[in-house]
Amino acid sequence: MIPRKLLCAAAALCALLMGCVSATAETVKVGIIGPFSGPFAAQGKNFQAGVEAYMARNGKAVKGNDIEVIYRDLPTANPAQARALAQELVVKDKVQYLGGVYFTPDAMAIAPLLQQANVPLVIFNAATSAIVQQSPLVVRTSFTTAQTTTPLGKVAIENGVKKVISAVTDYGPGVDAENAFKKAFEAAGGQVVEAIRMPLNTTDFSPIMQRVRDSGAEGVFAFLPSGPPTLGFVKAFNETGLKQAGVKFFATGDLTQESDLPALGDSAVGILTGFHYAVSHDSPENKAFVEAATKVLGNPELLSFPAVGAYDGMHVIYKMIEATDGKQDAEKAVAAVKGLAWASPRGPVSIDPETRHVTQNIYLREVAKGSDGKSLNKEIRTFENQKDPGLAK
Ligand code: PHB
Repeated sequence: MIPRKLLCAAAALCALLMGCVSATAETVKVGIIGPFSGPFAAQGKNFQAGVEAYMARNGKAVKGNDIEVIYRDLPTANPAQARALAQELVVKDKVQYLGGVYFTPDAMAIAPLLQQANVPLVIFNAATSAIVQQSPLVVRTSFTTAQTTTPLGKVAIENGVKKVISAVTDYGPGVDAENAFKKAFEAAGGQVVEAIRMPLNTTDFSPIMQRVRDSGAEGVFAFLPSGPPTLGFVKAFNETGLKQAGVKFFATGDLTQESDLPALGDSAVGILTGFHYAVSHDSPENKAFVEAATKVLGNPELLSFPAVGAYDGMHVIYKMIEATDGKQDAEKAVAAVKGLAWASPRGPVSIDPETRHVTQNIYLREVAKGSDGKSLNKEIRTFENQKDPGLAK
């Protein structure tokens, strides 16, 4: 006869072991929201390329927990739809993490849901400074327009330009870019003679170019969200004779994303931009990233910056899963990545423990011709270790 006490102890041990086994075998679901169809589909495909490149290089499980990625399509900025998709991912699909989000208004709509859902949101793109302040569960691996714009104020002065007209899309990242440029440019001795804000759905930029011409400015500073708007704006600048008239063009790198350079042609050569990532960045980490992301995209000419935000975003999510052992604990997950530093394809980066936004190098780049005759963003100067100046008090 086995004593009753011993039987009970054996049963308890068994239950404990089974608990442990199931704890190490969770499937952790990650919901990624992005523009996978419509006019910005190429940007969403770059999210997917970054996610899949990361998983191909780092495995599809963390500490024995399988990772399952669920993609949800949000073609254009649409806060109501963004909220509905996030809610569905949390409630129906039971995701433990949210990632992606191309447009600022969508990030703003999702952030208030996170605490009740016990889910962190890792932003792969949306670039308005204030997003990280909407919830303590937001972490961002992309950039802010304040971060990419600020170095350009001094650069414009150094290029002999004292009067600039700014032209930005009239929503969060555009307003941040306008303010950041004005602050940096005027601190360096320049003057913003006019500040144009363009509706998000603007497609005809010729009236804007006329205003640039009429302003008498020596240079133009511009931000628009990358995709059809940026292509249209740069083409209009090139085709209306402003370049020939000697007007200098300064912009965030959104306007010269590599996937648009073939369509922009030779007239884009010489444009100066500030940005966190160039496909041409020379490092072993970037070489491996470009190879893996290109494999997913199937065509090297489609690769652009949203892929690096996604690749590093997955790195952050993997670190969160590691720290929580696959268990759902959003607060613990976010705490674990505060101060996290790693070698990104863009250069050295870290998550600022105070703001949860990525600290990184911002590069001055010039559109130039490579030895193969193709255009590239050539890094010509590095502004090291930049926090988000848009959050400075
Ligand atoms: C944004 O909506 O925050 C956004 C979108 C596209 C960009 C940059 C910022 O290229």
